[in-house]
Amino acid sequence: MQLYLDSANLQEITTAVSWGVIGGLTTNPTLVARETGSFEDLIRQICRLVGEERPVSVEVIGTTAEAMEKEARLLAELAPNVVIKIPIGIEGLKAVHRLSQGPKKIDCNVTLIFSTNQALLAARAGAAYVSPFVGRLDDIGWDGMGLVREMVEILGKHRLEAQVIAASIRHPRHVHEAALAGAQIATIPFKVLEQMTQHPLTDLGIERFLADWNRKQE
Ligand code: E4P
Repeated sequence: MQLYLDSANLQEITTAVSWGVIGGLTTNPTLVARETGSFEDLIRQICRLVGEERPVSVEVIGTTAEAMEKEARLLAELAPNVVIKIPIGIEGLKAVHRLSQGPKKIDCNVTLIFSTNQALLAARAGAAYVSPFVGRLDDIGWDGMGLVREMVEILGKHRLEAQVIAASIRHPRHVHEAALAGAQIATIPFKVLEQMTQHPLTDLGIERFLADWNRKQE
């Protein structure tokens, strides 16, 4: 499973990229709104930091297929690794269909997915990625990871090529479960990525090794 960072913060991105574990990145309007400066400059910088061979999802704001397509084509000019994030819905499907074919084809990540049927529609329309929101489903008492599991199974069974990005990840257990469920990608907030590096027994082990080593030097 590829690990993407879910962030628009340059400091977080620089740090996570330096760990050598990041295979791509996702942003959304909420994450971008937390940052300062011009949106276009921010996206250019993010794409450069992540590396041109790794996809960076940038979300459109338009609500009609025409507006989404126009916006997507402008965003795609910012960097070669821009993937267009489009919310599921009839207008979104039409936009994905238009963007995912022809010589000017642009990869799309269909977002805000909460059912397998939404994923099926997005995949049929030509999405390169589908993003089920695990944490937001858990928040309302549903089984977010169950959705990921079924989505992976359905897309695989029907040989649909869209990759599943387990999104709205809230804790390291979600990452573990997404990997077991067969998601091709999990997009992870920086805090959770950091938590994944930690275990109390690792800290204790390092402390003991150092104490033993230092005792020998006395
Ligand atoms: C995914 O692409 C989204 O940016 C993100 O995972 C949403 O997560 P949230 O539910 O924590 O806002």
